[in-house]
Amino acid sequence: MKKRVLFVCLGNICRSPAAEGVFLHLLEQSQAGERFVVDSAGTGGWHVGKAADARMRAAASRRGIHLASKARQLELADLNRFDHILTMDASNLSQVQALAQEAGGSSVARIEPLLSYRSRFDLSEVPDPYYGGDEGFEHVLDLLEDACSGLLQALDD
Ligand code: 4NP
Repeated sequence: MKKRVLFVCLGNICRSPAAEGVFLHLLEQSQAGERFVVDSAGTGGWHVGKAADARMRAAASRRGIHLASKARQLELADLNRFDHILTMDASNLSQVQALAQEAGGSSVARIEPLLSYRSRFDLSEVPDPYYGGDEGFEHVLDLLEDACSGLLQALDD
């Protein structure tokens, strides 16, 4: 059975599409792609249908990572469509947990902060880079590369 992994942030145009791209890139490198289904979504719906932010795509591209996803909003069904939901910050985490409560607490997905899988950085949240400069996007990718690598090790047993 494939493991189904969903990355969640607020807008689904910066952090979670980047996490999806970083994780897919790691899967490609480790030839584990056929063992996973990977997607991303936002708790908010303002950017539905849009490509990832151009600054995020440019920063990822400099690391050889292509971000192809189009933004979509998280929905109740995702809680049963995915085995693992990885959130970027405390606000995303509480929003997804609230949705799980709405679903009656019977959802399949294990909901966790992505940075609980970090090893190099001592941070618990991936900061929103949307209103900052280019260095914010690089920092997001550094955090995502660290945590996604830990996530892959933990899940690909
Ligand atoms: P993301 O960043 O949650 O990492 O996709 C954001 C992008 C846009 C907005 C908020 C966060 N916004 O409010 O438009």
